[in-house]
Amino acid sequence: MGIAITVGESRAERAGVAAPFLIEQDWSAYTPEHHATWAELVGRRMPQLREHACREYLEGSEQIGLREDSLPDLGAVSARLAPRTGWESTPVSGFLPADAFFAMLAARMFPTTTWLRSRESMEYTPEPDIFHDVFGHVPMHAHPVFAEFLQQYGKVCAKLTDAEDLERMGRLFWFTVEFGLIRQDGGVKVYGSGLISSHGECSKVLAGGCEVRSFDLDAVLEQRFDTGAMQPVLYAVESFEEIYEAAKLAESRLG
Ligand SMILES: [Fe+2]
Repeated sequence: MGIAITVGESRAERAGVAAPFLIEQDWSAYTPEHHATWAELVGRRMPQLREHACREYLEGSEQIGLREDSLPDLGAVSARLAPRTGWESTPVSGFLPADAFFAMLAARMFPTTTWLRSRESMEYTPEPDIFHDVFGHVPMHAHPVFAEFLQQYGKVCAKLTDAEDLERMGRLFWFTVEFGLIRQDGGVKVYGSGLISSHGECSKVLAGGCEVRSFDLDAVLEQRFDTGAMQPVLYAVESFEEIYEAAKLAESRLG
């Protein structure tokens, strides 16, 4: 579980092929309207999440210093994450090509968008924004096992060249990082960012609107999904060790 960060290596060097996509976050450019929209988004999600998010997410959001009243400063978030797991929340210009995305994950750099959705699209944005990326994803990166899993995932994918293998690994990402569930404290809790950051999707799942199956790597690798629809089938793990082991197993199965 060692964290290898070469001292003196610049962010661009660590990002490798993703270097052209790195940007700076200009936190001072956010307006009072942006902060008010953020506060509304967080305020809308927290009552449900306090009850139905897994404890690692809730602890992580405290550990990285997420606030309800203002947008996160990614430098401050990274400063809190780094000593825990070596991850950072790294500002990028938008969607990344697959090789750049995997290279960043393999370097424990989470590609993070800095723009915020408008009040007109509170529930859904086709492209990820800072609410999806930071509120939805980053708290889990404070958890040591999830942190290992996500880096392992990036490393495995970075080595794959076959399009079908990459599609299968895309399914593993979708049914864990984006829409993952975990059995905890006698119930099913959410940890996937797509559920954490979407009130509609999460409410539907909690109301029993989708079939919850036990996580199984082979089943997940073959389970197709539609990004534009509510999910009919999701997978629940018993612990995060399960997805870390699955990412290691995937390395031996694919490629
Ligand atoms: Fe996401």
